[in-house]
Amino acid sequence: MKVQGRVTRIAISGTGLYVPPDRITNIELVEAYNEYVRAHNAAHQADIDAGRMHAQLKSSDEFIHKASGIRNRHVVAKNGMLDPEIMCPRLPERPVDEIALSAEMGIAAAKQALESAGRRPEDIDGVICAASIFQRPYPQIAIEIQNALGIQGFGYDMMAGCSSATFALQSAADMVAQGHARAILCINPEINTMHLNLRDRETHFIFGDAATACLLEPAQGADGANAWEMVSTRLKSVYSNNIRNDFGSMNRFDPSTQFNDDKLITQKGRKVFKEVVPMVAEFMQEHLAQQNIMPSQLKRLWLHQANINMNRLIATKVLGREPTQTEAPNVLEEFGNTSSAGSIVAFHLHNSDLAKGDLGHLCSFGAGYTAGSIILRKLH
Ligand SMILES: CC(C)(COP(=O)(O)OP(=O)(O)OC[C@H]1O[C@@H](n2cnc3c(N)ncnc32)[C@H](O)[C@@H]1OP(=O)(O)O)[C@@H](O)C(=O)NCCC(=O)NCCS
Repeated sequence: MKVQGRVTRIAISGTGLYVPPDRITNIELVEAYNEYVRAHNAAHQADIDAGRMHAQLKSSDEFIHKASGIRNRHVVAKNGMLDPEIMCPRLPERPVDEIALSAEMGIAAAKQALESAGRRPEDIDGVICAASIFQRPYPQIAIEIQNALGIQGFGYDMMAGCSSATFALQSAADMVAQGHARAILCINPEINTMHLNLRDRETHFIFGDAATACLLEPAQGADGANAWEMVSTRLKSVYSNNIRNDFGSMNRFDPSTQFNDDKLITQKGRKVFKEVVPMVAEFMQEHLAQQNIMPSQLKRLWLHQANINMNRLIATKVLGREPTQTEAPNVLEEFGNTSSAGSIVAFHLHNSDLAKGDLGHLCSFGAGYTAGSIILRKLH
C-alpha cells in the first residue's frame, strides 16, 4: 500500500506545558521507600527467616540515576507519597461542580498553547484529551476543558499509552486537513502518580506528572513564532503485555483480586528496553526513508522521555552516531517519565532556537506497544 502525504499542510502552531509545583528528589523518594522496606521486613521477619517470604531489597539514588537518567519528578501531591505508611498521593476529592484536577492542568497548558499561537478559544473547533490514564471515564475531561475555555464544537478523550499525544496529533491533523475543524487543541494531562506503585522497587522512581498542549491548524495562517509544519505522521502498534495496567471497572467483579498490584503499572523493564529500542529506531528510519529525508538533515530529535539509555540508543541508531544533548534533548533528569507528555515537553522546551526550514523528528513510544512518529519543519 502506498501511503500518501498530506493534501492540506498542517502545523503545530503553539505549545504549552503545565508542571505541578510539588517536586520529589530521588533522595526523598528512596528514603521513604527504604523506610517502607525496613518496616515491611521487620513486620515479616518470622516468615523471612523461615523462607516463606523474600526480604524486600532497598532502592538507591545511584541506581535510579544510572539506569534511568532521572533525578527529580514533579507530582500533583507530594503529600502521602513520602509517608512510608501511605505510599500514595493524598488529595481530597473535589465536588462535581469544581473543575477536575486533570482538566485544571490541561487548561493551564492549553492557555499557553493558544497564546503562543496567537489564537483565542473562538478560533478552535475541537479538543482532544489524550493520556495514558484518566481520572474518570466520563464526562470526558476534554469536554470539561472545552466548556471551561468556552470552545464550541466537540471534545473527546482517547488513550494510546505513552504515545497518546502523537496518536492525538495524527487524528487532529487528519480532521483539520479534511475540513472537519478549523483548529484543534490536543491536550495531555498526565497524572501518572495515580497508577504508580511506590512500593515496587522496579518502577517506584520512573514516573512524574505534567500536562502538555499542542494547537493544530492549517500551516497557511499559522503565524506563531514557533509554528512547525507536520511534514508527515506515522503510527504503529504491536501487542505486548510487558507494560500493563489492569485497573478497570470490572475489577469489582472479583473482590479477591480487586486491589492486587496489577491494578497499578507493572512492567518488565529489561524486556521493554530490548524490544522497544529496535522497534522504534526502525520505525523512525523507515518513516524518514519514505519521506526521502536523510537522518543528517535532522536538526533535532524529540524522543519520548522514558529512559536516558533507551533514548541514547534510539538516537544513535537513527543518526548513525552518538547524538549531542542539543540534538536529542533529555528532560528526564528534572521531570522523570511523564508518559505521553514527555516528547511534547522536550519539543516545547527545545525548539525555539531552531531556524526557518529546519527539520526535526518527534517520536513517542510505550505501552501497547505503541509508537508515533512526526516529522516537523519550522515554518518561520
Ligand atoms: C526499569 C529500568 C530502568 C531498569 O533498569 P535495568 O538496568 O534494566 O535494571 P534491572 O531491572 O536489570 O536491574 C539491575 C539490577 O539493579 C537492581 N535494581 C532494580 N531496581 C533497583 C532499585 N530501585 N534500586 C537499586 N537497585 C535496583 C536489580 O535487582 C538488579 O540487581 P542484580 O543485578 O543484582 O540482579 C530499565 O529496564 C528501563 O527503563 N526499561 C524501560 C522501561 C520503560 O522505560 N518503560 C516506560 C515506557 S517506554
